Amino acid sequence: MLWWKRHPRIAALLGDLEPYQLDALIESIRRNDQAVRIFVHKGQIIAGWHIYLACQELGKTPEIVQVGGTEDDALAKALSVELSRRHIDKHQVAAIWFEAAKCIKPIKALIDQAVAEAKARRNSQLKRGSARSAQLDRIGESAAEIGRRIGVSGSTVKRISALSPTWRTKLAAGETDFNHARQYSIRERNRTEAAKCPPVNLGEIRILQSDFRELDVPINVPLILCDPPYDDASLPLYLDAAKIAARHLDKERGFLLAYSGIHRLPKVIELLSAHLNYYWQLVLPFTNTSGHVRARIVRRVRNCYRPVLAYCAGPRANPPKVFVDCLKPRNRQKEWHPMQQPLEDIITLVEHFTRPGDLVVDLCGGAFTGAIACYHAKRRYLGCDIDSQAVKDGQLRLRKFVHEAGYSDK
Ligand SMILES: C[S@@+](CC[C@H](N)C(=O)[O-])C[C@H]1O[C@@H](n2cnc3c(N)ncnc32)[C@H](O)[C@@H]1O
Repeated sequence: MLWWKRHPRIAALLGDLEPYQLDALIESIRRNDQAVRIFVHKGQIIAGWHIYLACQELGKTPEIVQVGGTEDDALAKALSVELSRRHIDKHQVAAIWFEAAKCIKPIKALIDQAVAEAKARRNSQLKRGSARSAQLDRIGESAAEIGRRIGVSGSTVKRISALSPTWRTKLAAGETDFNHARQYSIRERNRTEAAKCPPVNLGEIRILQSDFRELDVPINVPLILCDPPYDDASLPLYLDAAKIAARHLDKERGFLLAYSGIHRLPKVIELLSAHLNYYWQLVLPFTNTSGHVRARIVRRVRNCYRPVLAYCAGPRANPPKVFVDCLKPRNRQKEWHPMQQPLEDIITLVEHFTRPGDLVVDLCGGAFTGAIACYHAKRRYLGCDIDSQAVKDGQLRLRKFVHEAGYSDK
């Protein structure tokens, strides 16, 4: 049996199958005999590397097709063969094409040609006085044209071109999935944009890196926010937060607002009730991007809301005004932190439970949405997070918010 090498550029672009996938391929070839061929260019395998490995394992001689022409033409052909054979999702397919355009000339030419054709079509439409918006066509038609050539939709192409180069490479290599790549690309872009904004005077908004159990909390605080991660390991944090709130909340009008997951709600209530008095439960519904209620199926329940528990330290505290206990449905907002809460919700809570100038203490800052809410609502803020990256991002986010909202000019 001949021994072949794999072409290094194709190997770098497509990576290896997982061991369980290779086992499945060996099994399939054992049962069905080899159904697909191996493509070889100048002594190197350019498509079908894993079929070759499977044949070696089974002691079979693979069926070889010699591909002529230039190396780059052969690689372009091999890539489309490999991608049509593999069970990978459309986002990874598009990301691999984008990566391939960096190192295989005919693929770059294919993408450039698609863009040029879309541009030419748009120009001729504009000359004919077509009513379609040039902006829309410029983004939409190029992506659709590229998509047609690489076998995915235009919207997939658009999503992939919006990723940061680093995350697109990781997605192509199968090191991450599209949702992660998208979220981290957005965060990278936000950090870069925020770093360009000049520093601002944040007044009485203080963001610290600390474990909240070591935070120096003043006495008679009107509002403490508590939003730890919703896993078992973090459950004891609710008890620590309750102890801090019992000592530091204003007895007449102070509240602790604790965000909670649904699964552990009874335990969270038990921990908070050990030191504080239960006041109310608020409901924060989720929506999807088109404004419909968004639900995650958990234990065969479509869960459409996040509970927030209101506790007070005194026997009976009263919020400054009557509030509605079911807030408006909000979209996911995760552009700074994976556990970020919608800003509008926190603004509503801060405005319900405090007066302008009051201090809000935020024990688990996360994306420091509480800090933004307080800056916007003219409350003082003291917040911390144990994670130094979250603190750096929180400071950048606040800086960007202040600039974008135009507060820095006032
Ligand atoms: C759910 S996120 C908070 C999100 C925040 N409410 C927002 O919307 O921006 C929870 C945060 O708690 C932080 N955290 C966990 N344990 C902590 C501790 N002991 N002290 C301070 N922060 C902690 C985590 O690092 C994480 O960033």
